[in-house]
Amino acid sequence: MKTWPVILVLLSSLAVGQKKPATLTIHLDKPVSKVSPTLYGLMTEEINYSYDGGLYAEMVRNRTFHTRWEGVLNWYLAEYGNAQGAMQGDPHTGPSEAVNRSLKLTVTQADPQNQAGVINTGYWGMALRPNTTYQGSLYAKTDSESIGPVSVRLLADANDEVLAASTVSDVTTEWKEYHFTLKTGSIRPSSANHLALTIAHPGTLWLSLVSLFPPTYHDRANGNRVDLMEKLAAMHPAFLRFPGGNYLEGEHIADRFDWKKTIGPLVERPTHPSPWRYMSSDGMGLLEFLEWCEDLKMQPVLAVYAGYSLAQEHVNPGADLEPYVQDALDEIEYVTGSTDTKWGAVRAKDGHPQPFHLTYVEVGNEDQFDRSGSYDGRFAQFYKAIKAKYPDLQIIATTAVKRVRPDVVDDHYYRRATEFFHDTTHYDKADRSGPKIFVGEWATREGSPTPNFGAALGDAAWMTGMERNSDLIVMSCYAPLFVNVNPGGMQWESDLIGYNALRSYGSPSYYAQVMFASHVGEETLQSELENAGPKLFYSVTSDTNSKRVFLKLVNAESVPQSIDLKLTGATLAPPAKVWTLNAGSTEATNTLDTPESIVPKESTLSKVSSDLHYTVPAYSIQVLELKQQ
Ligand code: AHR
Repeated sequence: MKTWPVILVLLSSLAVGQKKPATLTIHLDKPVSKVSPTLYGLMTEEINYSYDGGLYAEMVRNRTFHTRWEGVLNWYLAEYGNAQGAMQGDPHTGPSEAVNRSLKLTVTQADPQNQAGVINTGYWGMALRPNTTYQGSLYAKTDSESIGPVSVRLLADANDEVLAASTVSDVTTEWKEYHFTLKTGSIRPSSANHLALTIAHPGTLWLSLVSLFPPTYHDRANGNRVDLMEKLAAMHPAFLRFPGGNYLEGEHIADRFDWKKTIGPLVERPTHPSPWRYMSSDGMGLLEFLEWCEDLKMQPVLAVYAGYSLAQEHVNPGADLEPYVQDALDEIEYVTGSTDTKWGAVRAKDGHPQPFHLTYVEVGNEDQFDRSGSYDGRFAQFYKAIKAKYPDLQIIATTAVKRVRPDVVDDHYYRRATEFFHDTTHYDKADRSGPKIFVGEWATREGSPTPNFGAALGDAAWMTGMERNSDLIVMSCYAPLFVNVNPGGMQWESDLIGYNALRSYGSPSYYAQVMFASHVGEETLQSELENAGPKLFYSVTSDTNSKRVFLKLVNAESVPQSIDLKLTGATLAPPAKVWTLNAGSTEATNTLDTPESIVPKESTLSKVSSDLHYTVPAYSIQVLELKQQ
């Protein structure tokens, strides 16, 4: 019985052996079109706990104490020994107008050995690592200073073992901010931990904006998770499209990304509901997005709210829209203005005197879904106002418009692999005299929570088409970028990078992007593919300075494909480098526990000549780096 599969494999490889190889002729001396240096970037929004519980390194969940019918979310009463107390959300007092609520802890019985307080369980745990310092802060006030110091501890979920401890002293009857540090010893890395804030005497304590950060990327205060930033850096992204996506628009107009409420000290940020059904802390505010760009040397692609929200709410073009247009102009000034402008000065006060360079502004998101048909007028109004003040900015429309000609139009594609296989020539014949194209959201949606290898094949095939057309496609970015893989963390399946509080991994699609974006090239080369199967895709670009040629090959078939490679017009110098991403099945994937099942493997091709017989492995994505003499 067991010999049958082996015989079948042999028969099928014999059949392959008999098949006439495809011929791929590449004219190394014949450039065809320019490749956009900004072809590969990132798209991001608050979805799937992308920032809160994701990139934004805050460890305390619901730090400003939002409440629902079940009480204060993510906070629990802790009564150690015979201590007694009660907790409730207090909507009547808070440290600022923006954060005007708090948690009220009333302790009726406690002593130093029997403390009462509250615990926070973080975003599905709190990741703690050995010998690491965590920076904390909180706002507090009390009804009586006799409550004594607040004890702040990180405890193991399993047994309440104290992993780090500190105290906050001198809490008074007025709201005040306190800072503390928590340092771990030689513990085992784990996310099965929680934060406890307790007192040792009866009394009432109000807490607000309780925050705790691990070391962050580039040591930024209020910064980002190191592992996720490193994964993004490996993608060599040229730009960051933010803040959405649906997150820009909000479910209702009042829930839009209202950028002025996301800047300045955290205590001045009121927070707001994301359309993905959870509150956003707005710790990732406008300046944090820009600093993220700065850290990864990406250019910002700033999406401005354009008067349409998802529940079919819109603002009529004309006088009603004017305040929103002004908000966008102010936002652009905050990003780009010198410190002698009103909003440039605010940015300087927020800690970043240096203006940011901005080339692209996107007006709205997916406005084809606005059934009122108001986008044509709304876009024209934004376009004229922005161009009048910033004539050099490139303005992106989110769908086709008639009144003015946008510089760029944003196209979105969420598809199955087969659909991408059948449409890699989508832009081959597209009009080159119209607006440029931004493929601002795209993904092969196969695999959950993160895409499987079949999806990576769909993605790679699609990327070959985008590269070939990147004289027209100025930018492209996969979406969504992130997913917290804990139960309840995901609102949208097939996300590029998965994580929990402690660990993260790249999907096969992530590695396909790393491979493509690390070998972009400057121009496409003339080439012809003959006699190939329907699921062999390729793109060939060259980099004139380094005299390198990048050949990307995608074999989405379950069997190897042979190619006669004819490289004309220049002489190549061996060896060639080869990166291969492959798997035994389209269902194969990476997970938190098997993060490196499918990763690119580097090898060399020692013999390189103008006539090369080459075999592309089954189910594989390859980049060949050939060097010209
Ligand atoms: O990427 C997920 C969502 O898909 C985006 O928020 C929206 O723009 C699109 O519909």
